[in-house]
Amino acid sequence: MKKGPGTFATLIFLLFLLVFVWISSSWINSNTIAVINERKEQKQMIVSKAEKKPPKRKIEVPLNCSLVNNVTQTCSSNYPTTFDYAFSNVTCPEYFRWIHEDLKPFKSIGITREMVESAKKTAHFRLVIVKGKVYVEKYRKSIQTRDVFTLWGILQLLRKYPGRLPDLELMFDCNDRPVIQSRSYRGPNAKPPPPLFRYCGDPWTLDIVFPDWSFWGWAEINIRPWENILKDLKEGNNKIKWTKREPYAYWKGNPFVADTRKDLLRCNVSDIEDWNARLFIQDWIRESQQGFEQSDLGSQCTYRYKIYIEGYAWSVSEKYILACDSPTLLVNTNFYDFFFRSLQPVHHYWPIRNDDKCRSLKFAVNWGNSHKQKAQEIGKAASDFIQQELKMDFVYDYMFHLLNEYANLLRFEPKIPEGAVELCSETMACDANEGPEKNFMMESLVKSPSYTSPCSLPPPYEPRVLGAFIRRKANSMRQVETWENNFYENLIKNNISKRIGS
Ligand SMILES: *[C@@H]1O[C@H](CO)[C@@H](O)[C@H](O)[C@H]1NC(C)=O
Ligand SMILES: *[C@@H]1O[C@H](CO)[C@@H](O)[C@H](O)[C@H]1NC(C)=O
Ligand SMILES: *[C@@H]1O[C@H](CO)[C@@H](O)[C@H](O)[C@H]1NC(C)=O
Ligand SMILES: *[C@@H]1O[C@H](CO)[C@@H](O)[C@H](O)[C@H]1NC(C)=O
Ligand SMILES: *[C@@H]1O[C@H](CO)[C@@H](O)[C@H](O)[C@H]1NC(C)=O
Repeated sequence: MKKGPGTFATLIFLLFLLVFVWISSSWINSNTIAVINERKEQKQMIVSKAEKKPPKRKIEVPLNCSLVNNVTQTCSSNYPTTFDYAFSNVTCPEYFRWIHEDLKPFKSIGITREMVESAKKTAHFRLVIVKGKVYVEKYRKSIQTRDVFTLWGILQLLRKYPGRLPDLELMFDCNDRPVIQSRSYRGPNAKPPPPLFRYCGDPWTLDIVFPDWSFWGWAEINIRPWENILKDLKEGNNKIKWTKREPYAYWKGNPFVADTRKDLLRCNVSDIEDWNARLFIQDWIRESQQGFEQSDLGSQCTYRYKIYIEGYAWSVSEKYILACDSPTLLVNTNFYDFFFRSLQPVHHYWPIRNDDKCRSLKFAVNWGNSHKQKAQEIGKAASDFIQQELKMDFVYDYMFHLLNEYANLLRFEPKIPEGAVELCSETMACDANEGPEKNFMMESLVKSPSYTSPCSLPPPYEPRVLGAFIRRKANSMRQVETWENNFYENLIKNNISKRIGS
């Protein structure tokens, strides 16, 4: 290596630059990061334009609930409609790849207005975004406040990324079970499938999955917005060491929504049999009178294992159960929400047979209690996934990318429905019912635009990779079934030899 005076000067210069960058970077705050346009190069992002100005405070724009002429709540506010942001170098979690899978049926044909209209049959509302403003056409009342909090969530997404969402029109169905049967849209003369958004899907349907309302709160049962619950759940994990927890599988819920849950109750401990399960019925009415202290999610990790079982479709309880670092014993289900498909059995949860729950549970608990290290790893993998990959920022980014990719497929110009009025956080929250509804909105209100762009969307799965992923999942399930079969065969063998011996 030759070192001329030129390179020496360059070195000094670089050193100087480095020190300068270091000094000025301590001044960098979100306000002073210049730039930033996604189209520009990622490398340009680190430029700071204000070396001398002291850092400004992060802007926070509260709700403007003041009325015009003391009567009308309007959407006028000083919330920014565009915002300069820095490019985020974060890649979105793996489950974002399912966005491509959900939109695959529409990839080649695109989405026409007729297709959107054909999804109206079961939809609760049509959501329209035009020039960064939201309009809603309501068709029917949803269960409880599902629609209210879903719309609230979308409004918060727009506050997080103002001016960033493309124009779109979509139909949303707030009921539990997916309805767009893929077999009805197969074959040479088949109509194109209706694009319908909802909270869950299964392998036989084409509904597009979207985060459920509970991320912004479930007013009726007093479950607070996800962002704050996540903190409680994290603390909850530290309350009792795993080895000090009750060495059984725990479930508490409403068994009356599905036969499979009633079937689960047969596995409760009794005088005759102990299946290693401790099962309880959630009495919503009584607990609502007692202020829901019993179902405080932060202190739910008192058992070593927690059971997840589907309700009428997927269950909102899933993320709260997985967040506890006691391994989830997951009764096999075909329903999935937007993040479930990337989870791996034996790594993130332990699969339980749906058609032989009690024996399966007994074996799972037995296995975990005799493989304590591995059991704790499973619990930890799931709680880490929930804390890191399902934090609220990623939930918003999932919505952003899903809506963005969906809008890219539209073959028509979205337009404001006749007679529709703009929907905004002010019109929703200022007049909301006092109590949990209003409190949860205030709690989950996005007060400032994001200073960075959303994470970057990973590409679609190659069919080969997706195939391998699905096979690996199936193999893990089969492996557990084999272990379980062996366990019971040995039990019978030992029983026989014991009796012969005695
Ligand atoms: C607004 O309405 C409230 C209650 O109706 C009344 O007490 C108040 O005086 C009004 N304020 C103005 C500026 O008209
Ligand atoms: C709040 O809303 C009122 C009524 O629309 C408007 O007159 C006022 O300028 C707004 N205030 C801010 C700070 O945006
Ligand atoms: C993203 O940027 C941060 C901070 O600038 C850096 O620490 C991190 O290594 C970067 N990550 C990737 C994947 O480039
Ligand atoms: C299950 O058994 C436990 C312990 O005996 C009991 O407290 C609980 O009420 C039972 N659950 C149901 C649903 O019967
Ligand atoms: C073991 O043998 C006893 C007595 O015959 C029987 O009641 C019990 O069900 C057997 N247990 C198993 C696991 O086969």
